[in-house]
Amino acid sequence: TRVFISKDMASVALGADAVAQAFAKAGCEVVRTGSHGLFAIEPLVEVETSEGRVAYGPVGPDDVAAVLDGSHGTRIGAIADHPFFVRQQRFTFARCGVTDPLSLSDYGVHGGWKGLEAATALSAQDVVDAVKASGLRGRGGAGFPTGIKWQTVLDTPADEKFIVCNADEGDSGTFADRMLMEGDPYCLIEGMAIAGHAVGAGRGYIYIRSEYPFAIEAMREAIARSASRIAPFTLEVRVGAGAYVCGEETALLDSIEGKRGQVRAKPPLPAIEGLWGKPTVINNVLSLAAVPFILAEGAQSYADVGFGRSRGTMPIQIAGNVRNGGLYEVGFGVTLGELVNGIGGGTASGRPVRAVQVGGPLGAYFPPSMFHLPFDYEAFAQAGGLIGHAGITVFDDSVDMAHMARFAMEFCAVESCGKCTPCRIGSTRGVELIDRIVAKAPRAAGALETMPQIRNASRAARTHDEEVELLRDLCDTMKHGSLCALGGFTPYPVLSALDHFPEDFGGGDALREAAE
Ligand code: NAI
Ligand code: SF4
Repeated sequence: TRVFISKDMASVALGADAVAQAFAKAGCEVVRTGSHGLFAIEPLVEVETSEGRVAYGPVGPDDVAAVLDGSHGTRIGAIADHPFFVRQQRFTFARCGVTDPLSLSDYGVHGGWKGLEAATALSAQDVVDAVKASGLRGRGGAGFPTGIKWQTVLDTPADEKFIVCNADEGDSGTFADRMLMEGDPYCLIEGMAIAGHAVGAGRGYIYIRSEYPFAIEAMREAIARSASRIAPFTLEVRVGAGAYVCGEETALLDSIEGKRGQVRAKPPLPAIEGLWGKPTVINNVLSLAAVPFILAEGAQSYADVGFGRSRGTMPIQIAGNVRNGGLYEVGFGVTLGELVNGIGGGTASGRPVRAVQVGGPLGAYFPPSMFHLPFDYEAFAQAGGLIGHAGITVFDDSVDMAHMARFAMEFCAVESCGKCTPCRIGSTRGVELIDRIVAKAPRAAGALETMPQIRNASRAARTHDEEVELLRDLCDTMKHGSLCALGGFTPYPVLSALDHFPEDFGGGDALREAAE
């Protein structure tokens, strides 16, 4: 009997290796795949039958006999019919969980290389035009149109150009880049080869964080196996040392060049002067992995899905205190409430949802009163937030939002590259300010005398509300004065916590009214 079991890092953490060994011991042919992306049913086992694959999950090593005779209580049936998968639109993750990630024949049978074949039959400009027509925007977070970025690189004459894939995926609660690299590495390779053809670049680098050993191994092996397929284009993996700021594109370029990862001032844009001063396409894993579908199925098939100016699908990562954590790829426009309560199934703790952070540690917190927001770059920007790399982290009513705001400032202080003052100094002052605001809150009267931070009379003299004003002022300076998104976006979690959850800062209606 043939069975399919994921070897994705998350599945392995949940015990997939022991389950795979148990099935192998029982004489089964075990195919290790990527993960379908619903962690509540991992370790998942799919058994090949005459009616297709039948899924069971979660499965333990002692369940082999029950799974093989069909009596196991966690029988799901066809995975596509599971409520978590029924409404997904898997453009980018179509093969993830289905194929053996490193099998070239599996990749070919499931539509692989069709995009590259279509691209090489076209001129460079036609490929760039197709990517423009698809409406694809940068999936790393900023949402800049990918086709326009490629056009800039194509139009910049140079003896050498590069394709760089940003696989640093530093946002807490995000894992789509990792899952794609572990579960369908050739898809990323194909996307990068298409980009190389489109802009005239002969070499590409994939910059992966060292915390992703499985992804690093999978990409290296996949590059070796597909070298002749993508020739003369060549690829290399570079491993980052784990600094959050190295996910910022210019710091990432410095890191590849062997320097300390520090943000460069823009202009010049990397598209004009990037890696080693040469024109460089730098895109997130998900942007590049969306490209094979666009070339294979046509730009219009991609553009037909979506919402407003956000076209195509987004692999959304649902994490935190949530029942159905995992990867959910769907067209833009799904509401935040559907994601959290419908698809996510509410909190894992069973307590009411109080806040959702969208877009990683630099994203805004939203209360349930904003769950009508459609997943769309513009809608989130208008609501004082961002969709970023599409990670959403759920919190129940035990969360202390002043603590979360303080955490954002602390995170920025720890991860700051130190190049500019608003971020380097502002984040540390921000932590101190939030401590003073909480200590001076009316409900905490008396805490003031015991606070070690308050050494100077003028600080002690400021009232609670004045300290809040100062925090807003500081956030304004960080937002507009920082050189990159780390310092510039830290105000999002801080201000959204302050605006939507003033009671946690010792403010009530008065603070809320001031915010409005
Ligand atoms: P940005 O808005 O400065 O640039 C977006 C991209 O467009 C860059 O690659 C830039 O070089 C390019 N670009 C801009 N104008 C161009 C032109 N005329 N021609 C060609 N290319 C052009 O944003 P930035 O600072 O690169 O990214 C900020 C985003 O990063 C945030 O939205 C945030 O959500 C996200 N982020 C993602 C993280 C992750 O783990 N994926 C972590 C932290 C932040
Ligand atoms: Fe460095 Fe922070 Fe300035 Fe970005 S905002 S350049 S991380 S100091």
